[in-house]
Amino acid sequence: MRFDNGRLITLEGGEGSGKSTQAEILAMRLARAGRRVVATREPGGSPGAEAIREAILSGKVSKYGPFAEALLFAVARKDHIDCQIGAAVTDGKWVVCDRFVDSTRAYQGAMEGLPRSILESLERLTVGDFMPDLTLILDIDPEAGMARANARREEGEEVDRFEQEELLLHDRVRQGFLDIAEEEPERCVVIDANQPEEIVAEDIWEAVTERLGA
Ligand SMILES: Nc1ncnc2c1ncn2[C@@H]1O[C@H](COP(=O)(O)OP(=O)(O)OP(=O)(O)O)[C@@H](O)[C@H]1O
Ligand SMILES: [Mg+2]
Repeated sequence: MRFDNGRLITLEGGEGSGKSTQAEILAMRLARAGRRVVATREPGGSPGAEAIREAILSGKVSKYGPFAEALLFAVARKDHIDCQIGAAVTDGKWVVCDRFVDSTRAYQGAMEGLPRSILESLERLTVGDFMPDLTLILDIDPEAGMARANARREEGEEVDRFEQEELLLHDRVRQGFLDIAEEEPERCVVIDANQPEEIVAEDIWEAVTERLGA
């Protein structure tokens, strides 16, 4: 637990699991509870990282393989921490971040097979000790998640790099997240995301108050 009262809470999970929806609700509830809140997302969250987000999600980098993608995510994450969330947490703010380090583990690691030793090296260089105080893993059957993501997409809007992957690969992502939760139960809570929005929000609030005393 951080000594300075600031907190880093991350939301993780597959496509369409409700991370962005729930990040917004959580940020609102925390603010209502009197916390100073910063809501942000990855990849992106700072000007430098948002530029990299474009390159990654357009799919322009995927042809260079998961190592190149993981490196770019690492650069973006470092910039995000250095330029935004690091200072916010030190200043006592509660940061709610839509995707963070576990997405790299699940997508470039579990889905694409990048070795754990590489991921660990990158984490040491970027995140270091700045790990989340709480990670909410929104768990949903990938088929249901993709159906939600498809329904959300506006006409003419292109699918992004990771939405294009086969459902089978998304099963690996799901399992990747569940494995992280099992390995790090003191940091992670698995939330059943296949429930109505308000119920998911309640489960999340319960986890946050229980773990962090919001
Ligand atoms: N519990 C829920 N039940 C039904 N629909 C939901 C629920 N939560 C979110 N949705 C809807 O599903 C779609 C995807 O939700 P959202 O954008 O929050 O997911 P996400 O995890 O951020 O997706 P992505 O990984 O693509 O960013 C949205 O249209 C949202 O309104
Ligand atoms: Mg989202």
